[in-house]
Amino acid sequence: MASLFSIQSEFRYEIVHKIFEGGMGMVYEAEQLGPRGFVKRVAIKIIRQKYATQKLFLENFIGEAKLVADLIHTNIVQTYHLGEARGVFFIAMELIRGVNLEQFQHQLRLRGRKLPIELAVFIVSRVARGLAYAHAKTDGRGHSLGIVHRDVSPKNVMLAFEGDVKLTDFGIAKARGLLQDQEGEVVAGKADYMSPEQADFQVTDPRSDLFSAGVVLADLLLGRNIFRAEDAAASRQRILTMPIPDFRALAEGIDERLERILERALARRLEDRYARAEELLYDLEYYIYHAGYGPTTETLGRFNRELFAEAGPAPTTAPGSTEVLEHTARLAHRAAPPL
Ligand SMILES: Nc1ncnc2c1ncn2[C@@H]1O[C@H](COP(=O)(O)OP(=O)(O)O)[C@@H](O)[C@H]1O
Ligand SMILES: [Mg+2]
Repeated sequence: MASLFSIQSEFRYEIVHKIFEGGMGMVYEAEQLGPRGFVKRVAIKIIRQKYATQKLFLENFIGEAKLVADLIHTNIVQTYHLGEARGVFFIAMELIRGVNLEQFQHQLRLRGRKLPIELAVFIVSRVARGLAYAHAKTDGRGHSLGIVHRDVSPKNVMLAFEGDVKLTDFGIAKARGLLQDQEGEVVAGKADYMSPEQADFQVTDPRSDLFSAGVVLADLLLGRNIFRAEDAAASRQRILTMPIPDFRALAEGIDERLERILERALARRLEDRYARAEELLYDLEYYIYHAGYGPTTETLGRFNRELFAEAGPAPTTAPGSTEVLEHTARLAHRAAPPL
């Protein structure tokens, strides 16, 4: 697009502490500094050195940033910037003060608490809302971007202490023309939350994410993932062949309507599964609100805050990653071309 004029400016980020150390990269909390003492807390994701040199990983990382740059939705973690400093690429994004769903569930177990059914349904309804938006995303000319997240799993769903639910990590998302398509060669995604198509190395479409959202819902309701097996291959096998149980028999309080939602989300045959995220969203919202007042961002926020009250170390910190950064990395960075 032709620009009116351009602004060239400099960003500086001071890394404050490590939020998460994953296999492929690290997520830090950082301060973005501006003139006259302006400070904004952000999250910075940096790819690991050993992967940064691998073209495929780097392409995915950069592809993620470019792909999600314009995804602006309350249920998706917002990306601010893709930067490069001394050859290291990083993504600056909205800082979520909260936990991911895996940490949330870990804390539930630790405290011997049970997640109320309506809150589980509410959480997944927000995920479905974010997915509906991402799936429908088009480029400037109205062509579908064909986004499929492909890694909808508890670790990639953030729960802010304010109650907002946000989908993150589009690192292996598939989008036409933006990410390398590895389908048929490499299986990406967390094995026990994969759709049968993914587990079977098939081409995926948005319905794949709906299956994964169904696995997350079942996981929240039961407190465990029914497909989890001793290793990734065994989990994939279960996803492909294990009879889908009647959830009413596995947990108290699941009624016929909720069972039906799970059944449709977890249908292996694509024709039987929800066709669109909006349909799943509608059913989940109908489930919690048809009788009147239902769960809200506020009730979820309160639940999350109470769950983590007096929990010790900063709750945004993953277990075992509290150490202070020895090298207070300074990422001096020249802003990319015109705003
Ligand atoms: N914007 C953010 N704000 C706060 N924490 C975040 C943010 N993004 C990610 N995290 C934390 O870091 C973890 C890993 O981030 P993610 O983007 O999923 O990277 P990976 O590719 O390593 O899975 C998440 O599960 C979450 O706990
Ligand atoms: Mg992740």
